Amino acid sequence: MNQLGSRVLTTQRLILRPFRATDAEQAFSGWMGDPAVTKYLTWERHESIFLTRQLLAAWEQEAKLLTTYHWAIVWRETGVVIGDISVPTADMRSQWAEVAYCLSRAFWGRGIMTEALMAVIDFLIGKVGFLRIEAKHATENIASGRVMEKCGMQLEGVLRKGHRLLSTGELVDIAIRAILREEWEARKALQ
Ligand SMILES: CC(C)(COP(=O)(O)OP(=O)(O)OC[C@H]1O[C@@H](n2cnc3c(N)ncnc32)[C@H](O)[C@@H]1OP(=O)(O)O)[C@@H](O)C(=O)NCCC(=O)NCCS
Repeated sequence: MNQLGSRVLTTQRLILRPFRATDAEQAFSGWMGDPAVTKYLTWERHESIFLTRQLLAAWEQEAKLLTTYHWAIVWRETGVVIGDISVPTADMRSQWAEVAYCLSRAFWGRGIMTEALMAVIDFLIGKVGFLRIEAKHATENIASGRVMEKCGMQLEGVLRKGHRLLSTGELVDIAIRAILREEWEARKALQ
């Protein structure tokens, strides 16, 4: 493993870079305060920007660690921060990483998270050396499952009533998807 931390990644339309404390206004108005974005997430929407400011100040510090993988998704055309993609959990011994993401509602449906996730998978497998990238989503969160599918993450199973949503208290089924290094290499060979 070659721990590199949240290196800046660039795609056709996006820059992925570490969060800065000064991103708080855009993060809060873009997605952290929006209940439509946080509906399926493991954290509740921020009721005030003060929480967002505290969190982003902590993230700016965390970004100095080479074992942290957490990026702000920046729309290149305007420089605005529009989302978040990260590795909340990883097992260095088994060489797997779990990814999670969210995007401002105004930017949904344009292939943006697919573009960001592909860049992150390329980095985590191709540069850092993970052997498996996994992610979970509520089965009813079809858009998120589709993003993973488009990035080559295969459905491995469903945890029936595996999670109680913070937003509604409802129990939902959770799908687990993953891509292995050899599957990623096969996709790269076709590109
Ligand atoms: C999930 C999320 C990240 C998707 O980001 P995005 O940039 O809009 O995703 P993309 O445009 O790359 O791809 C979405 C795909 O889902 C499809 N889709 C979206 N809603 C759908 C629906 N209700 N039924 C079927 N397909 C749907 C889109 O058509 C697209 O597939 P396509 O390219 O084959 O047409 C974004 O909606 C989001 O931030 N949601 C809130 C946070 C969240 O749920 N995070 C994930 C938690 S697991």
